[in-house]
Amino acid sequence: MTDRVNRFNDDFVDWEATSYGEAWAPYYDEIFDVIEDATIELLAGLAGNPPRALELAVGTGRVALPLARAGVAVTGVDNSPEMLAKLAAKDGASAIEAVVGDMADVPVAGEYPLIYLPFNTLFALLSQERQVELFGNVAVHLEPGGRFVLDCFVPDLKRFDQANTRMGVSSIKSATEHAYEMSIHHPVTQTITSHLVRRQSSGETLVLPVAVRYAYPSEIDLMAKLAGLELENRWGWYDRRPFNDRSGQHVSVYRKPG
Ligand SMILES: C[S@@+](CC[C@H](N)C(=O)[O-])C[C@H]1O[C@@H](n2cnc3c(N)ncnc32)[C@H](O)[C@@H]1O
Repeated sequence: MTDRVNRFNDDFVDWEATSYGEAWAPYYDEIFDVIEDATIELLAGLAGNPPRALELAVGTGRVALPLARAGVAVTGVDNSPEMLAKLAAKDGASAIEAVVGDMADVPVAGEYPLIYLPFNTLFALLSQERQVELFGNVAVHLEPGGRFVLDCFVPDLKRFDQANTRMGVSSIKSATEHAYEMSIHHPVTQTITSHLVRRQSSGETLVLPVAVRYAYPSEIDLMAKLAGLELENRWGWYDRRPFNDRSGQHVSVYRKPG
């Protein structure tokens, strides 16, 4: 048995914007391997003609590669050289234009019919200020009539106890393969710092850190509004199931007027 530990202290003082990629890149594809057809269909349908899209926080290409295979010319921004190296090693990667940079700056030239930011990753920006800046820069790089699509979890503060902590079981596949989450919630900054402890079937135990700054859909809508974007659609997932009070996540589509 081996232990692979990547641990931050309680208040994550050493956490940097690039820390997620550095810690997760070796394991990301093993842990998150699923991409649903509905996600690719919805995104491809909004990518214009000829189809083009910009993915913010493209990571190892979990979404970008199948979207490129569906005929969309994809540019992907990520701040992690480690995640982008994993992408570069995959079949089809040469179809993706990869840009190293901070997604909040949207460090690309020109305008796109579609910009998308999947997998809760707006919340990787740990201040409201940076999240607002991201929306402003997205609006600059959208064509008139273009769409910005993101998915995020709906915050559920019932998960935390009265001391604002959580120790929870994330999954149990078997006695040898399971995952726990240990989190601290900081209500004032709307941030959650977590360590995910994963016991792999190989016998390896991983400790992976993650920090997020969450926002409710209403706050995200306000950020979009500040950037001049209109909420066009909100669903409970990419398969367009309805969004309602019981939804744990949302897929939101913002449109640049024009
Ligand atoms: C949960 S992964 C999502 C990757 C990919 N979009 C997917 O759906 O599989 C989060 C990604 O965001 C990147 N990231 C985090 N903060 C970032 C930032 N400020 N600018 C650019 N990329 C960032 C990480 O390096 C990582 O690749």
